[in-house]
This record gives sequence, structure tokens and C-alpha cells, in this order.
Amino acid sequence: MNKTFNWTASSQSREKVFIEMDKLRKKDFDWHDLQNLTASYFGGHDVAEIAKEAFCRHIGDNAVHQKGLHPSVSTYEREVLEMVFGLFNAPNEASGTITTGGSESIMLALKTARDQARAEKPEINVPELVVPQSAYAVFNKACHLLGIKLVQMSESPDFRADVAGMKEAVNENTIMMVGSAPPFPYGLVDPIPELAAIAKAHKIWFHVDACIGGFVLPFARDLGEVIPDFDFSVEGVTSISCDFHKYGYAYRGCSVLLLRNAELEQYQGFSTETWPAGDYYSKNVAGSRNSGPIASAWAVMKYLGYEGYLEIIRQLIASRQKFFQQIEASKSAQLLGRAEGPHFAFTVGDVDIHRLLANLMTRGWRANLGTKPDSVLLMLSHHHGQIAEKFGQDLNSAIEEARSQAPVDHDAQVYSIY
Ligand SMILES: Cc1ncc(COP(=O)(O)O)c(C=O)c1O
Repeated sequence: MNKTFNWTASSQSREKVFIEMDKLRKKDFDWHDLQNLTASYFGGHDVAEIAKEAFCRHIGDNAVHQKGLHPSVSTYEREVLEMVFGLFNAPNEASGTITTGGSESIMLALKTARDQARAEKPEINVPELVVPQSAYAVFNKACHLLGIKLVQMSESPDFRADVAGMKEAVNENTIMMVGSAPPFPYGLVDPIPELAAIAKAHKIWFHVDACIGGFVLPFARDLGEVIPDFDFSVEGVTSISCDFHKYGYAYRGCSVLLLRNAELEQYQGFSTETWPAGDYYSKNVAGSRNSGPIASAWAVMKYLGYEGYLEIIRQLIASRQKFFQQIEASKSAQLLGRAEGPHFAFTVGDVDIHRLLANLMTRGWRANLGTKPDSVLLMLSHHHGQIAEKFGQDLNSAIEEARSQAPVDHDAQVYSIY
């Protein structure tokens, strides 16, 4: 073995390892810091503790081995699935698969649709996927991996999906259309019923990406908010992805792919009989999956119950309202629509957006960058209402400062959290 590649020559003490780790973590940003306005998904210290304890109890368990080694994990999966079926008005024939994250849920949906098309529409040579401009980038990645042609809209009228453009883009090779509830760049729910009707008319799969909104929109509606229809109550919706590890408040990675009809699962799984260790069947993209995330999802859902989520979402909506007020009160900033979900974007016309984000960063804030148009994207948790006013003040001074600074070369990435 060639030991020159960064191996420490001898074992180190536990103390030394963690001293070095803490040194490395010094510049890290606390995930639940109040000034963290990126995708942090904080449900409260009590919720985080429950999730952590459940996670730790299963930290060494592989969810692949639930039959023979960890039957408790099957129970967690079955029970959380029953809860999400209720959340999305799933029909009795529905099925669900727990995955490692939104990306896996989406890849799996696309793989299932592709294999259904292979079986039922063999005349299609190169299958096509029609997505709004704002669909999450993993759709691009999944198309790349699965040999599917991506047809992505070039515009987002009113920051929602381009229904007319998508209708036009559907052809005899289209196997799937997508809408998001809501998409990452804007936070406004796509017109799901209109899109699903087009898909239904063409007998193609319609996927709803509710990875962000899945644990927010149903509760917001129950609280009296006007939420566009987006779940299985909409005819034509074939599948939904929803992330426990976002506003479900589980630790990463835990998500679910729901299918309207369990019969579609025949196209989801993969099996082989040639493996020298026995027959192999998997209905996930991932192989080994840590049981910790699913245990944390189950524990948090039991702990909070419907009423607990309702109260968190009530506070989240109130927080978003306070932020809307701050943006609307600023003479320079303009909301890109009034988002129904937990996040929203705003633009500041005459200011370089990279400079602005960097100036917010020096004031202790972390936020996301939007590029169509140049914008700031804030992803809120329920506790953020208490710092909305401070954000408004800092935003105004960061804008003033940016006006006196030279614009930056965007390729230089003055600001990026990736
Ligand atoms: C709308 C949307 N869909 C899907 C995903 C992918 O989720 P994950 O990061 O869990 O793979 C994200 C991630 O932020 C998202 O915002």
C-alpha cells in the first residue's frame, strides 16, 4: 500500500480527532441559525431532539435488511406511508416507496414511466420529458442517466409553469409531464389541474414534485390559505414526490415516491437471478439505506401529529407574511409573486445581485441566488418571523452599499452557497 496519500502514520486519540474536526468546523454555519435563510428546515429544538434520538437508535441499521434483521423499519415505513397517503388524498390502490431524498424519488418516477412506456409504447425510440423552466435540476440529471430527451420550457409566465408551451411541446414521444408544488426558484405552485388534464388527454404520466410543499401545503389549506389543487384529488396525477427531510423535519435522507396505482410498481423495480449471492430485487435507486432517517421521520410524525404540524405551519405562514411586509416596504425590492409555499423570491432591479448577496452575507445572512431574473431566494422556517424586521433593515443597507460598489463578474461567483 502507498501510504504517502494523506494517511496519518499512526492512530490518533479520540480527543485529537475531535479537536481537529472542531477546528475544521469553525467556519461552518449552524443549520438552524436564525440568519440561515437557505434550505435548513428547522421544526424546533424539541423536534430536532426527537429526530436525533430516533436516528441514533438506528444509526447502524441498513433499511435494505428490514425483513431479516430490522422488522421495526418495515413498520415505520408502513405507518408513515399511511400518513402521507392521507395527506395527498391517495386512492386505495396507491403505493409508496421510501427513498433517500427528493432526487431519488424523482429519478425513480422517471425510470418507472420510461419502463412502462418501453412495455406499452414500443414504437417510441427516444422518450421525452416535458418540464416547466423551474423544474428542479434533478430532472435534467435523471434524463441524462436514463436516456430520456429533456424538453424544458424557456419561460415561466407569472413565475409558474408555461401551460400553453408545455401543451405545444407534447408529442407522440412524450412519456411524462411535470409540475411542482412549488418549484425551488419561485415558490409559486404550478397550475397542476391544467397540466394534468393535458397529460391525461395524451395518456401520459404526470408527476407532481411536492418535495418542498408536501408537508406544508395540506396544512396551510386546513388553516384557511388558498392553495391550488396539486395532489391525487386532481385527475391525471400519476405520481407525487415529497420529502420527509424538508418540512417533515426528519434528518436527511428521507423522501417518498407515491404512485396512484400499485400496479405501476411492476415497472419500478429491478431484479436479477444471476448474482452468486441469491436472487436480487430492489425497487429503489439506492442500495444500502441508513434506517436512521426513516426512524427520525416516523418519530417526528408521531411526536407532532396533525396538530403539531398545523401549529408549525401556522407560524411559518405568519413568518412569511412578516417577510412579505419587509420586502414590500422596501423601496427597491420587488416580490416575484406572493408564494403559497414556505419560500419566495424577490428582485432588486438596479443592483448587482451577487454584490447584494455578498453584502447580506457580511451582515450574517445566508440566502439563495436566483438567476431568471436575478433574485434573492429565501427559504423560511417557522422561527424566522422574529428576525424579519432585522432582515428588512439589513436588506436596505446592503442595497445601498451595493449601489456604491462596482458590479462583479458573475462568473467570479462572488456569492455562492454551493
Ligand atoms: C422542488 C425540489 N424538488 C426536488 C429536490 C431534490 O431534493 P433532494 O435534495 O432531497 O434530493 C429539491 C431540493 O431542494 C427541490 O427543491
